[in-house]
Amino acid sequence: MAGFICKLVVFVLASICQISLWAADKPQDNQVAWMLGCQGCHGASGVALGNEVPALENTVARFLSVQGGREYLIRVPGVAMSHLDNAAIAQLTNWMLRTMDPDHIPLNFEEYSALEVGELRQNPLGFEAATVRAQLVAKNAKYFD
Ligand code: HEC
Repeated sequence: MAGFICKLVVFVLASICQISLWAADKPQDNQVAWMLGCQGCHGASGVALGNEVPALENTVARFLSVQGGREYLIRVPGVAMSHLDNAAIAQLTNWMLRTMDPDHIPLNFEEYSALEVGELRQNPLGFEAATVRAQLVAKNAKYFD
């Protein structure tokens, strides 16, 4: 009996946890999603880590101004392959841009929607992500000074 109650409690807690992630519509929920799914590689504030993980802070929104950059931000493996659903990814990405690089968000920026994220995730990048990134930066050096 105790075992059953224990399992029930775990199940209910896990469900509450999932529902709250799924309904990530408040800034603090995006923060939690970031901590659980992204922070392990990107740190709390999107700092560069070694040569592998690029800085998001003061950089990531620059991709919005270059051709293919908007798509790239969703097609990177860490985003496209995330366990989060399309709506949560859209919100998390909009939040990430506003939080980590507000100065480079173009004036005409339209927030990502779940629909757009869903389409871009059908075409995820794999190991070539770093090369695609390097090419975007090299072709648009003036945006990445
Ligand atoms: C396993 C480590 C890892 C995780 C987890 C991860 N990322 Fe990344 N991320 C990277 C690496 C490495 C790159 C550089 C591109 C590449 O080589 O994949 C990157 C690139 C990016 C970029 C493109 C920015 C740029 O300058 O290239 C964005 C945006 C991004 N990640 C967001 C996220 C978000 C949001 C999450 C969580 C949902 C996440 N990442 C989870 C490792 C990770």
